[in-house]
Amino acid sequence: MQLLMVAPPGAGKGTQAERLAAAYGIEHISSGELLRREIAAGSPTGRRAAAFVDAGDLVPDELLLDVVAARVLEASGGAGYVLDGYPRTLSQAEAAHALASQVDGVGLQAVLHLRVGRGELRRRLLGRAHREGRADDTEATIEHRLAVFDQETEPLLGYYAARGILHDLDGERPPDEVAGDIAALLVRLGLA
Ligand code: AP5
Repeated sequence: MQLLMVAPPGAGKGTQAERLAAAYGIEHISSGELLRREIAAGSPTGRRAAAFVDAGDLVPDELLLDVVAARVLEASGGAGYVLDGYPRTLSQAEAAHALASQVDGVGLQAVLHLRVGRGELRRRLLGRAHREGRADDTEATIEHRLAVFDQETEPLLGYYAARGILHDLDGERPPDEVAGDIAALLVRLGLA
């Protein structure tokens, strides 16, 4: 199973991707989490990425490809993967597509878009800020991340819709209900 979650900050990409990984034995590949690990480890990639991540800006494409591509190829040899956060721009989607077309069986089968209103996204991210203190969960940075989503990531929805693999889900319901809708969708698509 080869899936991608595309949704704004706070929509539940990570939450649902983790559940998918546990339910289907696929690998959860979170670009944000991989970057935060590199930053925490103080690696050369982490040192270059830190200022972008903390400001809520997109990290340059070449750093992402380093961090994510090998994991995707590895996971494709097994039960598959759910990508969370990469690709998140048209240029990344095109690069990922070009890479996938060189290797049999690694391409995306479904793209899941979680729809959540702005008020709820802000509420969730500010709630997490109080609980976990993630560096990019400040009020100003949350607004910037939402604006970056609108400008850079939203166009991906049309890109994948044109390829017939985009599926829209109501992400504003409780996590168990969202997970149930995703599971039902995967059955309908013949992926589970
Ligand atoms: P990333 O880590 O991908 O952050 P994000 O897109 O801002 O997403 P979040 O993790 O904030 O939200 P989510 O949708 O995963 O929701 P979650 O499940 O956590 O990226 C961070 C940064 O890394 C980027 O800003 C950029 O700098 C860099 N980066 C990453 N990928 C990149 C790329 N491809 N190119 C360039 N730069 C890149 O849930 C959020 C909260 O809501 C949690 O507290 C959760 O418990 C709660 N919640 C979840 N679902 C529900 C629900 N249904 N009901 C109520 N609460 C819920």
